[in-house]
Amino acid sequence: MSREKFYITTPIYYPNDIPHIGHAYTTLAADIIARWQTLLGKEVFFLTGTDEHGKKIELAARQKGKSPKAFVDELIPSFVDAWKKLNIRYSRFLRTTEKEHEAVVQSLLNSVRKKGDIYLGTYEGYYCTDCEAYYTEKDAPELKCPIHHKTLEKLQEKSYFFKLSKYQKQLLSYYKKNKLFLSPEFRSNEIINRVSEGLQDLSISRTSFSWGIPIPFDEKHITYVWFDALANYLTGIGYLNDKKKFKKFWPADVHLVGKDISWFHCVIWPAMLFSAGIEPPRQIFSHGWWTFDKEKISKSRGKVINVDELIAIAGVDSARYFLFRETPFGQDGDFSEKELIEKHNNELANKLGNLFSRVTSSAEKNGIKKIENKLIKKLALKEIEKKMEDLEIDKALSTIFSFIDKCNEYIQEKKPWESETTDKDKILYELIDSIKAIAILLWPFIPETSEKIARHLDFEISYENIKKAYQGNTIKKADILFKKI
Ligand code: ME8
Ligand code: MG
Repeated sequence: MSREKFYITTPIYYPNDIPHIGHAYTTLAADIIARWQTLLGKEVFFLTGTDEHGKKIELAARQKGKSPKAFVDELIPSFVDAWKKLNIRYSRFLRTTEKEHEAVVQSLLNSVRKKGDIYLGTYEGYYCTDCEAYYTEKDAPELKCPIHHKTLEKLQEKSYFFKLSKYQKQLLSYYKKNKLFLSPEFRSNEIINRVSEGLQDLSISRTSFSWGIPIPFDEKHITYVWFDALANYLTGIGYLNDKKKFKKFWPADVHLVGKDISWFHCVIWPAMLFSAGIEPPRQIFSHGWWTFDKEKISKSRGKVINVDELIAIAGVDSARYFLFRETPFGQDGDFSEKELIEKHNNELANKLGNLFSRVTSSAEKNGIKKIENKLIKKLALKEIEKKMEDLEIDKALSTIFSFIDKCNEYIQEKKPWESETTDKDKILYELIDSIKAIAILLWPFIPETSEKIARHLDFEISYENIKKAYQGNTIKKADILFKKI
């Protein structure tokens, strides 16, 4: 029997600088969800990559006195290394400068043109290069970018347009029929309202600079970077080069994005796909925005934390844990090193780490004896499954930790280290069997720790193993999982 598929993506990031905590956040969320779906037995494809064309990259390269391609080539390893250090297991890292992707973009442009949805006109309006986005006087009354607060650039040039306005009704009815598409739900009204107000056609080509994919039917123009970038989700699974793979994985199950780029994914992307006759993705999930000491993450003001700095605070698993433990997935969060350390000490070290070391050291002394594990009935497995399905990652994690609390209460109540306690070996078996379940469920979140526990107790990390009785019989005292800071 073939396994069910699951296709998840992150945005492809602009390689105009090294990745920071915001980029890490989305990529980690995708990794957690991808690992969870893998654990459930699905065949998962997890795509990430870099968005390498456009004016923003061209300018950044020029400032360094480099060609755009040489400039991005030098930055790509910082993304690849960051994801490796964070223990992120993607299926493919896509670069939009790959030939395969350029062919996909050109093929998509041809399909949209064939449909009669592209025309030549003149673009007159305002542009933010940091966003690579067009603004109207209505969106930006003071002609300053609402995100970057920089004065918008006035553009006037001949340009090809995509008939976005034509798809207003189809988009609204798609949203209505597919409630998951605009996720989380509390963010959906904003998109629906804006689309209801009417859509302007979108300028999709530029002539004033050259770092982009040529428009196949007019080589004087290059493709607007967002039209190019969005197509990466098709390229990644072989839209042109591997039809079998594409058929298997498309439509995407989730495009994870930050709320800053919801509009492109919720409006422009499905309209492009409607035009090209391709099914839209199932869900766009827009998560919240991280600030740093309550301020917008900004390189120029020193309000930024990069991946190495994040890992240096308390290790990879503690960073992964902190980012998803408290801030509800979907809401904004404020990064604080102090809170990360607190979570590392009070939850990972005191709750999980202590449980593991107390149980293994008592089990080394007293042995374990297999019986029915009644303690594990307190594990709300169905609830965890539902929360992961709904992408309430933080809630799934807190439900797992409630069970860790239950195990700590149990050990506190039974005191298997005291000489007068009876059935120590049976109590310890229940605890070891429960730790097995905990480690398996935590694997998507803190894989390194989870694998350490699995190696020590000698069990395999698989979903079926949560419910299968623990088979080992001799336990050794374990090394500390989390050193307090
Ligand atoms: O927008 N908090 O790339 P980008 C949370 N190339 N997430 C954050 C964040 C923060 N402070 N800062 C960044 C682009 N992110 C386009 C995408 S996709 C076809 C093209 C994350 O380098 C978040 O996911 O500006 C956000 O949407 C993304 O990085 C923007 O990355
Ligand atoms: Mg950005």
